[in-house]
Amino acid sequence: MQPDQYAVMGHPIAHSQSPRIHALFAIQTGQNLEYRAILVEPGGFAAAARAFRDAGGKGLNVTVPFKQDAWVFADVLSARAERAGAVNTLSFESTGARGDNTDGPGLVRDLKVNHGCALGGRRILLLGAGGAARGVLQPLLAEQPAQLVIANRTAGKAAELALRFGDLGSVSGCGFADLAGRSFDLIINATAAGLNDAAPPLPDGVLAADGWCYDLMYGREPTAFVRWGRERGATQSLDGLGMLVEQAAEAFHRWRGVCPETKPVIAALRSG
Ligand code: ATR
Repeated sequence: MQPDQYAVMGHPIAHSQSPRIHALFAIQTGQNLEYRAILVEPGGFAAAARAFRDAGGKGLNVTVPFKQDAWVFADVLSARAERAGAVNTLSFESTGARGDNTDGPGLVRDLKVNHGCALGGRRILLLGAGGAARGVLQPLLAEQPAQLVIANRTAGKAAELALRFGDLGSVSGCGFADLAGRSFDLIINATAAGLNDAAPPLPDGVLAADGWCYDLMYGREPTAFVRWGRERGATQSLDGLGMLVEQAAEAFHRWRGVCPETKPVIAALRSG
């Protein structure tokens, strides 16, 4: 039988790890599928997604810069995707294109299950107020932290985002300098500062004595924010490779109805 077809669409896409991750999941679970990376030009997402679906494609992952386009494209949205305003997983079903966002659940699973980091009752600081931050807010708030503060270079955007999610828990927004004198048990970096190999400018003391750091970005070498956490004695300072694999597992489960094991896949990616 022909393998079922899946793909990830983005721009750029050449360095995406998703084909490797899904190929490892497929081998592990004995699923008959093919998964490839498709480069889509800006403005071309809807046409590319439609063409893929019309050719028999079963599902798509969507990455930068098309997550909002995928949100618009979906016929039906999960509650968390609806809130996030972004879709990273599309399932082509007989009833239409179902959109979900598995980024936030991926982050929460990596923290809680893979690393044993409790989130309930903790003081969480989320850095950034763009698409990446919005994608993880609802699942983080569902863990019922004592407080969740969003800090952003442009303070107004953090305040706006906090307002939008305020019905889900204790969440507020501010600028980086407003964090002086406060400290947090977990600091999550969802800014794009790492693209310049920099950590956001945070006041001293913002990381609690036994605090954790988590960077949504990952790389071969420790990211600038992971280094920032280590330099300040974080109990753990983690990059986002585990989240990447966990969000893929959640998508795979949605598509195939089976849960792949993530630990061996994370280990395989870590070793190159
Ligand atoms: P993404 O989808 O990756 O979240 P985005 O929506 O463009 O991308 O958002 C980028 C985020 O990184 C924003 O919060 C941005 O801050 P502003 O809202 O002030 O632009 C943040 N950011 C980008 N470069 C940064 C830097 N050098 N230092 C701190 N924050 C930065």
